[in-house]
Amino acid sequence: MAERQPSKLNVAGSIPVSRSNPHHDGVPGNDVRIRPERPTDAEQIRRVHDAAFGGLTEGRIVDDLRGTPQWIEGGSLVAEGPGDGRIVGHLLISRGTLEGSARSTRDIWAVGPVGVLPERQGKGIGAALMHAAIELATRRGQPLLCLVGHADYYPRFGFEPARAISLDAPSAWPDANWQALRLPAWTPDLRGRVHFPPAFPEE
Ligand SMILES: CC(C)(COP(=O)(O)OP(=O)(O)OC[C@H]1O[C@@H](n2cnc3c(N)ncnc32)[C@H](O)[C@@H]1OP(=O)(O)O)[C@@H](O)C(=O)NCCC(=O)NCCS
Repeated sequence: MAERQPSKLNVAGSIPVSRSNPHHDGVPGNDVRIRPERPTDAEQIRRVHDAAFGGLTEGRIVDDLRGTPQWIEGGSLVAEGPGDGRIVGHLLISRGTLEGSARSTRDIWAVGPVGVLPERQGKGIGAALMHAAIELATRRGQPLLCLVGHADYYPRFGFEPARAISLDAPSAWPDANWQALRLPAWTPDLRGRVHFPPAFPEE
């Protein structure tokens, strides 16, 4: 499996959450509403990722996951812009597995893709989506969130190199990009190899 470059590392409830990034308070454009996707959102979500990533891969991952056992109800979060309700950002959480040392497996939540329309980036929308994802995972008693993504972006939310807590990556990703966030339900026995849903391309 080839090592992915960070630009390709695109793996990051029923009650709508509205949040702004404290780093960006006062910046016009961060007044978004975060809510779970609705059936009519699929095309807009695909367009957000096509534009954010400049390619079709990430949008296809979301489409491929929809309806599979790895899809988490309420785990597809959209950021809706003020006024027209246009979807300006999207984050998906899906169900991966953690293969422990005794070859026991348990579900583990994986974040990604995360995308914001290019013209709306840098206004706290990505942060609002990530805070909502963390809140959802915590509320549902998940011990961890894991992702492969930008080494300089996710640590601000508390992510750390996953290998430091004995989680092996699904692929040969650089340590700095393979990251995990320990949630209140985390326990030190959660070690082993993480597998992402089959919809993620193996690289
Ligand atoms: C990464 C992304 C989701 C962040 O969303 P956003 O709404 O732009 O982010 P926020 O406004 O919450 O945060 C902006 C911060 O993110 C940082 N940031 C954005 N892209 C980054 C990157 N590729 N690497 C490191 N930091 C990044 C900015 O420097 C800014 O930092 P600051 O707060 O210190 O000024 C968005 O920029 C995006 O869609 N990028 C293209 C697709 C992508 O790379 N997705 C993530 C794959 S891991």
